[in-house]
Amino acid sequence: MNLGVFEGKWSKEYTALFFVFRDLVAPKVKGVGDAKAVQQALDLAKEEGFGGKKEEVIVVNPPSSKLGNRVIFVGLGDKKEAKPTTFREVTGAAMRALRFCPPHLVMVLPSARALGESSTRLAQLATEGVLLGTYRFDRYLNGAGEKKWKNIYLANVPSNQGKKGIERGRIFAEAAIFARDLVNEGASVVTPEYLANIAKQLAEKEKSIEVKIFNEKTLIEQNFGGIYGVGRGSHHPPCFIELKYTPAKAQKTLALVGKGVTFDSGGVNIKPTHSLETMKEDMSGAAAVLGVFSALAKLRPKLKVVGLIPASENMVDGNSYKPGDFLRTYSGKTVEVTNTDAEGRIILADALSYGVRHHKPDVIIDMATLTGSAALALGQNIMALFSTDDSLALALQEASDRSGEKLWRLPLEKDYMEDLKSHFADIKNAPAIRRGGAIHGALFLHYFLESHPRWAHFDIAGVAWSTRDRGYIRRGGTGVTVRTLLEYCMDENLWKTS
Ligand code: BES
Ligand code: ZN
Ligand code: ZN
Repeated sequence: MNLGVFEGKWSKEYTALFFVFRDLVAPKVKGVGDAKAVQQALDLAKEEGFGGKKEEVIVVNPPSSKLGNRVIFVGLGDKKEAKPTTFREVTGAAMRALRFCPPHLVMVLPSARALGESSTRLAQLATEGVLLGTYRFDRYLNGAGEKKWKNIYLANVPSNQGKKGIERGRIFAEAAIFARDLVNEGASVVTPEYLANIAKQLAEKEKSIEVKIFNEKTLIEQNFGGIYGVGRGSHHPPCFIELKYTPAKAQKTLALVGKGVTFDSGGVNIKPTHSLETMKEDMSGAAAVLGVFSALAKLRPKLKVVGLIPASENMVDGNSYKPGDFLRTYSGKTVEVTNTDAEGRIILADALSYGVRHHKPDVIIDMATLTGSAALALGQNIMALFSTDDSLALALQEASDRSGEKLWRLPLEKDYMEDLKSHFADIKNAPAIRRGGAIHGALFLHYFLESHPRWAHFDIAGVAWSTRDRGYIRRGGTGVTVRTLLEYCMDENLWKTS
C-alpha cells in the first residue's frame, strides 16, 4: 500500500473520505473539491441517516459533484469526548467497514486543533489506524483474502509534518504487525529455534544490533534451570535469546524481557480443551521484544536497549518437569513446582536475574501473558501494569496514553508473598489459593529481580489475543506493547526521568 501526503490538484479520479463529529459541521478543507460540494455531500449523508456517531461510515453518491460520484463520511462521535486515540480507532474501524477499495483514496484529516494534537501526530495516528486496521493474517487463506488497498493520501496536513507522521506511523505499525505475525503463526512453526532465527535475522540486517543465542547445551552448562526445566519435555529444545541495540551515544540502558512460551499446554497440569486453542499466543511478550527490535535501527532512539527472551515450549512428555519437582534457577534460588502451568514466571525468573546481573539496566520491563487472573480482571482491552517505581509507572502511563494501548496499575501487595512460601524450597511457583493470581505472578517475578529498583511488568494475558475485530485491532494476535514501548523509547523526557 502506498501512503503519502495529498499534494496533487483535485480531480474526480480521487475518492474523498471526511471525518465528521456529531455536530455534523462540514469540514473546511482547501484543495479537496470545494466547500459547496462538501456541504452538499454531507447534506445527502444526513438525509440518508448519517449522524456522525463514532465509527459510523456512510458512502454517498452525489449527482454531478466536484468531489466525484462517491464520497465517504466517517463519524468521530462527540467533539467533547474526542481524544487523539479515538481518531486512530475510528480510522481502523473505517478501513474495515469499507466494502470497496477506491484506487486513490484521499483521507481528509480532521482539524488538529479540534483533537488537541499536532498535525504530525494526526498523520501518525491515521497511518497506524490504516495499516493496523487493514492487517490480516492471510498466509493460510486460499482465495478469499482481504481487500487490497493501492493508494491512500492524507490531506489537510502540511507536507513536511504529514510525511514525518506517516513515516513514524509506518515504522510503529509495521513493528506491531511483525509481532502480530509471529503470534498468529502456528506453534509448530514458531518454536524456540524459530524465534532465535528471527532474532539472528534482525541482527544480520543492522549494524547497531547484536545477538547471542544460548542453546540447550549452554542453558544446562550455565545453570538456566528455569528455562531448561520448563522446556525439557518438548521435542523443540529451549533457548535463551539476547539482543542488544547500541546507538552512537547511549545515555541509559533499558532491558526488555519477553515471555517466550511458544506453546503452553499447561504441561502435566494440562489445560482444559477450550484454553488450549490459543496458547500459541504465550510467546506474545517475546514477539513484542522482537517487534520493538525490528524498529529500533530505523528510529534510532538514544538509549541502549537489551532484549531478553527465554524461549521454551511447555509440553507433556516422559521427560517433562513434574508437580513436586524442584528447579534451581539462574540466580541460585530454588523453586518448588506446585503447578507446571505456572511456567512463565519460572523462565522469566532466569531472564530477569540474568538481565540485572549482566546488564545493570537503568530500567527493566517485562511483557508476559502471565496469568488468567489479569485477563479475568481487566478483559481484552486493558493490560495490567505492576511497577516498583512510581515515576516509571507514570512514564509508561503516558506512553500508553499515546499508543492507545490501555493499562491499569495493580499493586504489588507484599503480604501475598506469604502464599508463595514453600516448605522445601526458596519459593513455590503456584500458591494454593487463586485469589490475587495476577499479583502472585508479579510478586514471584519481583523475587528474582535482585533488588533492582526500577522494574515494570506488563501482564498481557488478556490483551495479547483478540477474539474480535475492534477499531484497528484484528482478531488474533494484537502486537500489544510494541507501540507503547516505542513511544517510551522515542521520548527522552519519559526515560530520562524514570
Ligand atoms: N499462559 C498462561 C496464562 C494465560 C491465560 C495466558 C489465558 C493467556 C490467556 C499461564 O502460563 C498460566 O497458565 N497461568 C496460570 C497460573 C496458575 C496455575 C497459578 C493461571 O493463570 O491460571
Ligand atoms: Zn501456563
Ligand atoms: Zn503460560
